[in-house]
Amino acid sequence: MPHLFARLLALAALLVLPAAVAGIVAPRTTSPSGNVALPLGHNDQTFKILQLADMHIKTGTDYGCLNIPRDGSPCGDRNTTDFIGRLLDDERPDLVVFTGDNVAFPPDAKKAIEIFTEPVINRSIPWAAVFGNHDAQGNMDNAQMMDIIESLPHTVTSFGPRDIDGVGNFAVEVIDSSNETVFSLFFLDSGAYSTDPDIGGYDWIRPSQVAWYRNASAEISYNNPHDPPELVFFHIPFPEYHNATENVVGDKQERVNSAQVNGGFFAALTDVGKAVATFVGHDHVNDFCGRSPENPLLALCYGGGVGYGTYGRRSWERRARIINIEDGGRLVRTWKRLDTGPKGTPMPMVHEQILWQANW
Ligand SMILES: *[C@@H]1O[C@H](CO)[C@@H](O)[C@H](O)[C@H]1NC(C)=O
Ligand SMILES: *[C@@H]1O[C@H](CO)[C@@H](O)[C@H](O)[C@H]1NC(C)=O
Ligand SMILES: *[C@@H]1O[C@H](CO)[C@@H](O)[C@H](O)[C@H]1NC(C)=O
Ligand SMILES: *[C@@H]1O[C@H](CO)[C@@H](O)[C@H](O)[C@H]1NC(C)=O
Ligand SMILES: *[C@@H]1O[C@H](CO)[C@@H](O)[C@H](O)[C@H]1NC(C)=O
Repeated sequence: MPHLFARLLALAALLVLPAAVAGIVAPRTTSPSGNVALPLGHNDQTFKILQLADMHIKTGTDYGCLNIPRDGSPCGDRNTTDFIGRLLDDERPDLVVFTGDNVAFPPDAKKAIEIFTEPVINRSIPWAAVFGNHDAQGNMDNAQMMDIIESLPHTVTSFGPRDIDGVGNFAVEVIDSSNETVFSLFFLDSGAYSTDPDIGGYDWIRPSQVAWYRNASAEISYNNPHDPPELVFFHIPFPEYHNATENVVGDKQERVNSAQVNGGFFAALTDVGKAVATFVGHDHVNDFCGRSPENPLLALCYGGGVGYGTYGRRSWERRARIINIEDGGRLVRTWKRLDTGPKGTPMPMVHEQILWQANW
């Protein structure tokens, strides 16, 4: 009997092992501040985030792709999800962040959400999503889509407080094996279009959200012996991106399409002093990180467009940003991967840089 038991255990271990290799994570925990907590990987050393910007998933079918860098037909949403699958297999991120315009004008938003989340869910990778200005232009509003997103496996996304502006303002904490938070990740809904008839253009992160950020950030510091540094994700760049002209790494090929109003979020991040980088999408052919003289300690980054069904640039590959927390949370490195062709071709790594390094 003991032998049989041991053999059963060995068999169980064999059955469990491939799942562990495939990246299935421990059951998620909640931090004392009430946020989802995800563990640092590789013996408390690293945590890799893949940012996927502006997928613009519509129906999952083929249609003429826009501004593709090479000839390729048929072409459509499946080229976008193929690229995502190859990125996931090559980079094996610990978290995937969809930074908005995940879907665009979807006739069936539920189906469109299932299409872009499938490669991530299939691989059991935790993921977070924020909304852009095009997500709600199909058959559902953001609250309806959030109900679907929250019900899907492996997501760390949450609706967030209902008494502030936006849908999907939430924080996630990256913790070490002693349960100390080494990094906080903030996700905000930067809205869609201005609802003020006197102001045109895009929406902005509102004062209620800025107040929520200040409180949530303070709560995390209150519950930890050190102030954890922060990474911040949202869709529409704030006006300070116009001034991100110092230490630029990457390409700027269109204007910064920020709101006309400054909602004060950059000022709050500067005042709180814990954020080391922000990551937005929205402007598909900008993929740079730069710094504004108003706060050179904060890197202002774009992801670069992933989606084939929306505008890109003919001589410029679709791409995605990797953000790698290293050295147990004391260093943040970033780079991008380019889609140069079908399965089997390499995805060149470009624009590698260190965004932040601790002075402890
Ligand atoms: C899109 O995917 C199809 C099917 O795999 C392929 O034939 C085509 O070349 C791809 N297009 C681009 C631009 O990569
Ligand atoms: C995900 O898994 C399902 C079921 O095994 C499979 O049908 C589908 O093709 C997979 N999708 C991706 C993107 O790998
Ligand atoms: C960390 O927290 C989990 C539960 O959230 C607990 O099971 C574990 O013992 C804690 N570890 C340490 C080192 O405190
Ligand atoms: C955050 O807000 C809650 C509710 O208003 C309050 O109880 C708490 O003290 C605040 N936390 C901090 C650190 O300001
Ligand atoms: C950008 O820089 C200009 C020139 O220094 C300055 O007047 C402006 O206030 C800055 N804008 C923002 C949003 O910081």
